[in-house]
Amino acid sequence: MSTSFQIAIDGPVAAGKGTISRLLAERLGFLYVDTGAMYRATALLALRAEINLSDEDRVVALLQKSKLEMRNPIPPKETDGRLTTVILDGEDVSWAIRTQKCGEGASKVAVLPKLRHVLVQKQQEIAASQNVVMEGRDITFRVLPNAQLKIFLTASVESRAARRHTQYLTKGTDVSLEEVIEEIKQRDQRDMSRDTDPLHITKDAWVLDTSELSIEAVVELIANKVTQLMQS
Ligand code: DC
Repeated sequence: MSTSFQIAIDGPVAAGKGTISRLLAERLGFLYVDTGAMYRATALLALRAEINLSDEDRVVALLQKSKLEMRNPIPPKETDGRLTTVILDGEDVSWAIRTQKCGEGASKVAVLPKLRHVLVQKQQEIAASQNVVMEGRDITFRVLPNAQLKIFLTASVESRAARRHTQYLTKGTDVSLEEVIEEIKQRDQRDMSRDTDPLHITKDAWVLDTSELSIEAVVELIANKVTQLMQS
């Protein structure tokens, strides 16, 4: 039985999970855990080693012999707009994992059941001893099924694509809005149709549509809910 307060957030790609979870964690003094970064780091490892992303045993072996660390960004060097710092075998890969290629790779390795098993265990260990805001695609029903607060954060495809498009342009990735819409639809399809733990809304989750809300408004709504829960 966990002694920590756990906030589990799931939702489709580019629904604002990262920014919202980071701000919420800061406000509450909780640890922010971006589980997508773990799948992205695994994809980066496999891409660099030129291993086929569907070669489950080799991908898992590669991850197990690597050291993956995640922490809150340490100022001033790491306060460069990142939401979390990811260190892979001593190298800061916080930005290297944010490319379109790594995102696509992550969604491919995320269908591998053995890899999911290894990463889920790691995530459960992190959340067992400290208060967390953990976000991903299987947190509400697989990683933290007993979380005190479960949220399914979503938004329309159009508003998610517009956000992701702006992020790509800011990073200098030249891609059209139509391509991003297509990418998002494909990622949704892959996330929701994989055999192991497909993304879905649990009965006990609070469904929050962020299409028409500002980031600050969403953080405020969730923080108020947490205060209520902690007092009850
Ligand atoms: O949230 P993101 O875009 O960084 O996630 C990258 C990929 O990893 C995405 O395609 C879905 C997958 N993922 C997952 O399957 N389970 C999680 N808990 C987190 C991410």
